[in-house]
Amino acid sequence: MTSPQARRPIVAANWKMNTGPDDGAQLARAVSAEDLPLAQVEVVLCPPATGLTSVAEAVEDSPIAVGAQHVYWESSGAFTGEISVPMLTGLAAYAITGHSERRQLFGESDLDVRRKTLAILSGGLTPIVAVGESLDQWDAGETLAVLRSQVTQVFDVLSPEQTAASVIAYEPVWAIGTGRNASPEQAQEAIGWIRDTVAACQGRPAAERVRIQYGGSVSPDNCDELLSRDGIDGALVGGASLDAAQFAAIVRAAVP
Ligand code: PGA
Repeated sequence: MTSPQARRPIVAANWKMNTGPDDGAQLARAVSAEDLPLAQVEVVLCPPATGLTSVAEAVEDSPIAVGAQHVYWESSGAFTGEISVPMLTGLAAYAITGHSERRQLFGESDLDVRRKTLAILSGGLTPIVAVGESLDQWDAGETLAVLRSQVTQVFDVLSPEQTAASVIAYEPVWAIGTGRNASPEQAQEAIGWIRDTVAACQGRPAAERVRIQYGGSVSPDNCDELLSRDGIDGALVGGASLDAAQFAAIVRAAVP
């Protein structure tokens, strides 16, 4: 079994629908100019699609990686507006899938998330698979059931190797962009459930290697107590990632 220490923390910036090619590159340069512990923490910037090229250029001499916020599972064809995994060659090493905004606002289903995750892995990229319960589900005590279902839908069809190579982001929907984050205990418990579910799908060794981030209103004020918890392998950061200094503070808090 891989020890938890062997999992390198990963902090990803989800810029959402903010920044174009120029200001995105400027933000990427500002992030890379920060004092970042890049030997210990993997850092990924996920700009909108139109910023992928300029951001990739801005960080090309640094270990900072680039990720896409969204992909489609087909490789090419008549899919207006979509971007495929092969189209990201040379631009991105990661792709987010299953983000709650995609699920809620754009109708992305568990089956879509499964297909996208498989396509991302087949294309040689690393998926960041986002899962999380809504406020209603949280209030109704359904968090465990929701997480089990979302995780199983994807990880049941991967191989143990694909599982170990993936990243999962636990993002309680009620904590995203609300300034209300899960307590470190809540985040740690939910992440434990997610890891157990992955183990039920693909075995304990693979589950011990998959990295599981927390996301939802992560900020310089709460990152230390969240990221110092065992089993929380980094963060997926929205709002605070639009400020280089704030994002850097979160990256530094992820050093094991
Ligand atoms: P937030 O977003 O940090 O602004 O809550 C996180 C996310 O949606 O990934």
